[in-house]
Amino acid sequence: MLQTVNPNRALWEKGDFTRIAATMRDSGESLVNALGVRRGMKVLDLGCGDGTTALPEARLGADVLGVDIASNLVEAGRRRAAAEGLSHCRFQEGDASNLEDLADQTFDLVVSIFGAMFAPRPFDVAKEMVRVTRPGGRIVMGNWIPNDPTLVAQILKTSSAYSPPPPEGFVSPMTWGVESHVEERFGKAGIERDQISFARDTYVFEYPGTPAAFLREFSEYYGPTMNAFEAARKNDRVDELQKELQSLFESQNTAAQANSTRIPATFLRVTVTV
Ligand SMILES: C[S@@+](CC[C@H](N)C(=O)[O-])C[C@H]1O[C@@H](n2cnc3c(N)ncnc32)[C@H](O)[C@@H]1O
Repeated sequence: MLQTVNPNRALWEKGDFTRIAATMRDSGESLVNALGVRRGMKVLDLGCGDGTTALPEARLGADVLGVDIASNLVEAGRRRAAAEGLSHCRFQEGDASNLEDLADQTFDLVVSIFGAMFAPRPFDVAKEMVRVTRPGGRIVMGNWIPNDPTLVAQILKTSSAYSPPPPEGFVSPMTWGVESHVEERFGKAGIERDQISFARDTYVFEYPGTPAAFLREFSEYYGPTMNAFEAARKNDRVDELQKELQSLFESQNTAAQANSTRIPATFLRVTVTV
């Protein structure tokens, strides 16, 4: 039987995002600590990856479901939770654009840090997040910001400049970093503007090696950058891409010690009270 490829899933199953996630753990934990997670709270972590925020939510006693489109990351999340004995931290495959397995008004808190922003059909994503949140509950999203000068926005911008053009009708994930789009999407899902608040926040990437070695992690394991390098190879532009990204990583590095990388990156934190 002919299997159709889901390009959204294929992008994130490519490579191994756990290699990048490993450099984001402290920021993930700090963010969760600021969310008022309490014992017994029902939390959905959407686009959870291998659990950078899901595990800290469960450590605080929440009953956590991590949902992600990538089967390898769901497996990795399960392994990490099992290693810590976090039986109330479950993971399953699912698509943020269609959470058909999840009942209405189930969760006290829906968290999606650089996750749901990558799903297609953003209006459906907003509708689904609102649908599964109980009245009085919250949705917290972390979204990279288009044209922001810091690391991830720039990696994604450069990667897409070298990659083949997206299919017609493709909506850039970066539009989730624009307040007016966020308001419009949640507005269609029945949320008023005064139920949404925005803040600029920072994630810090910490890697025990040089910026060049950290860039190698992205070029070998991070789907969007892997695609850019593949396309650049075909067009004989690898050196150009490598140089552009290397100068980005080096210029953003704030680590005091040699052989270590510490890069802060700005994102838009969106909080919706349902
Ligand atoms: C940049 S990673 C962030 C992962 C995690 N939230 C973290 O903070 O480490 C993006 C994640 O979104 C997931 N994702 C992309 N599209 C998705 C979709 N349509 N539904 C659910 N998850 C999706 C990817 O598989 C990946 O795990």
